[in-house]
Amino acid sequence: MSLQDSQWWRDAVIYQVYPRSYADANGDGVGDIAGIRAQLGHLRDLGVDAIWMSPWYPSPMADAGYDVADFRDIDPAFGTLTEAEALIEEAHAAGIRMIVDIVPNHISSEHPWFKAALADEKAKERDYFWFRPGRGENGDEMPTDWRGEFGGTTWTRTGDGSWYLHLFTPEQPDLNWDHPDVRAEFESILRFWFDRGVDGIRIDSAALLLKDPQLPEVLEDNPHPFHDLDGVHEVYRAWRRVADSYGGNRALIGEVWMPEVERFANYLRPDELHAAFNFDFLGCAWDPRLMRECVDRTLDAHKAVGAPATWVLSNHDVTRHVTRYGREDTTFSFDNNLDGTPVDLELGTRRARAAALLSLSLPGATYIYQGEELGLWENENIPPEQFQDPMWGRRGHSRDGCRVPLPWTGDEAPFGFTTATPWLPQPAEWKDRTVQAQTGDPNSMLELYRSAIALRRTESFADFSWLELGRDVLAFCRGQDFACVVNMSGAPIALPANQSVLLASGPLDGDRLPPDTAVWLRMTS
Ligand code: GLC
Repeated sequence: MSLQDSQWWRDAVIYQVYPRSYADANGDGVGDIAGIRAQLGHLRDLGVDAIWMSPWYPSPMADAGYDVADFRDIDPAFGTLTEAEALIEEAHAAGIRMIVDIVPNHISSEHPWFKAALADEKAKERDYFWFRPGRGENGDEMPTDWRGEFGGTTWTRTGDGSWYLHLFTPEQPDLNWDHPDVRAEFESILRFWFDRGVDGIRIDSAALLLKDPQLPEVLEDNPHPFHDLDGVHEVYRAWRRVADSYGGNRALIGEVWMPEVERFANYLRPDELHAAFNFDFLGCAWDPRLMRECVDRTLDAHKAVGAPATWVLSNHDVTRHVTRYGREDTTFSFDNNLDGTPVDLELGTRRARAAALLSLSLPGATYIYQGEELGLWENENIPPEQFQDPMWGRRGHSRDGCRVPLPWTGDEAPFGFTTATPWLPQPAEWKDRTVQAQTGDPNSMLELYRSAIALRRTESFADFSWLELGRDVLAFCRGQDFACVVNMSGAPIALPANQSVLLASGPLDGDRLPPDTAVWLRMTS
């Protein structure tokens, strides 16, 4: 893929950089842009097509940067706007596109708009938010009983007695997307980043923007008052017009958590978003029947709207998949975090290796969350007093375990991440999972990812079709001469005849494929 390719998002390998935890160059224990620039070679060697950068804007960090105080600048902890511009340029020079993360549902309570709204009831900014009187005689009951996305309540009372809405923490007041100024501001923010050369926008909490102004309660037989309201599509049609005005090569990628695939696909109609994260696949159990159904469901839903599928195994919000796949229950949902349940890391790693080949050969784009290419697992041993995630206080589960800084070199923490104490502790066992330890080791996760991504670049993957190799085997072809086979059964299976192995996720047993192992095959007849 070259930077000239149009529609690059359709089959790109996109790497999520979580800037706090990638690499720290200024020695304060927190990752930064200078660190990313210094370690850009890792991403070039890995062969990724694009970086998605989690928020790097000025923020009080009530939600690790998803509480943005200024969308047109960079938080001093990460660096400066000039450094961000330099990174965009250097990534492009290395053939890597840049996607930035925009958070439209809410802003930080330290954003000038919210401060103005709090300071004066008559301020025009007041209408940019959801201020409402309380219920009850003294107005001291919340306007609704809505449960927040992190659990807990969704309204906070201000000094003047009114309440404001926040679907996440009180430091993240929700914006009123019925207001034209809010819409205009975000279109201008998109242009700000497109003008700086970014190739795509990741849209945070994309389905939540609109709220029913009547504020009904969430009831089974009511339309949902804040999730997936029809009007949200008009917002993204307008965003699409902005993106398209830059020549048709800038992508909008939505974070849309939606159990109903048809509703999900609505976001991907030709005049809306270009792609959205496939959380159905992320949450799916390591189970051949369920995985196959998930792949079918995904491909059908995307085909209906002409959009490319995406394949996502992990991100900064969910338990890392080495850990998930090493548990008895391999599904994921926010209500099923299973903290502290037994984990077989060897099994989880073996499955994660197979999942790498699976997710890199299904039709569409593949997302890699930083550290996944190193086979990192969830750090489940962070002492609670070190937790920084606000979800911990509200939902009893912390996302910090998947946000631990990357191990680069050496035998001991902080493994070259920083010269100081890293903002979250790294497991000592990661000494075998550093970039340095894995480089050149043909059996390492890192070399598996490098080989798979390199092969993917030279393969001309064609039409997808299932290959029937037994009930517990997930196998498919991409055209006549390429096949991926994942053995999800408990016993070795025979590989098809007339093939040669291009890449295997683990050692083969003669000409048989062991359990929890995947291969890419060249079919010869
Ligand atoms: C998204 C982000 C998550 C954040 C939330 C609120 O789900 O991925 O990290 O906490 O939105 O912005």
